[in-house]
Amino acid sequence: MSRLVVVGSLNLDLVLECERIPVPGETVLASGFRQIPGGKGANQAYAAARLTSVPVAMVGRVGSDSFGAALRQNLAQVGVDTRDVLTVDEAPTGIAIITVDRGGQNSIVVSSGANFVWNQIDDVFAGASFVLFQLETPLEAVTTMAGMAKAHGAFTILDPAPARPLPQQLLDSIDLLTPNESEAAALGLAPDEKVLIKQGASGSTWGELHVPTIPVEAMDTTAAGDTYNAALAVALCEGESRLAAMQFATIAAGLSVTRIGAQTSAPTRAEVESYRLKR
Ligand code: RIB
Repeated sequence: MSRLVVVGSLNLDLVLECERIPVPGETVLASGFRQIPGGKGANQAYAAARLTSVPVAMVGRVGSDSFGAALRQNLAQVGVDTRDVLTVDEAPTGIAIITVDRGGQNSIVVSSGANFVWNQIDDVFAGASFVLFQLETPLEAVTTMAGMAKAHGAFTILDPAPARPLPQQLLDSIDLLTPNESEAAALGLAPDEKVLIKQGASGSTWGELHVPTIPVEAMDTTAAGDTYNAALAVALCEGESRLAAMQFATIAAGLSVTRIGAQTSAPTRAEVESYRLKR
């Protein structure tokens, strides 16, 4: 039985809707405020669980506070196995302050908190066919766990967000990198067999393959990249070709930007299939 495992962050997103994102020194008034489950890792796990019946598990850290319990519960209610979301006492649950402008663009500041407390690392990758990583957790922990996942024969995907220099030991354990354009530029990456670049409104490119985005009116692009990665892994895990997986991921990410928030914007499998049929 295949299994999809996501290793990464869980944050409570504090989302401010504004006419425009303030420049340094400026104060703007928000037209709305919401608290929404987020964190790049949790977003990927949540989105994957909405898209597949393949078992999905989350590996992460939260603080011993009400935010942590709520984030774990939000994943569990869509069927994500949260046994490896450990509660730590050293730091509070991660939070993200997100400003979203009228055009759907955002700016994000993350306070990592518990997401950076990995005193204990367990090998939880037996039976995992796909393992997804991002970089909102310590690089050393990601490197160790990517090595463990690879040793179990899993296909490993790293979203290098936020971008930082990647040690060779980590790269050796990663099958696919999925930066956005600014991360690709920061890391000196170009599309090839091991690099898929998410190009926002221009689509995505993996080696020779390019898939344009679907036409949508963007409300909020937060977590579109997370939804893309989740959907890509789901489709590959279900045996789809690379091109079909990119098309599936493009629809899922496109639908996600039509809604506000991170996990609140993840589409269901039925919604993606229904869009596919209409095309
Ligand atoms: O990718 C979007 C996510 O980045 C948000 O949910 C926020 O928590 C930050 O981790």
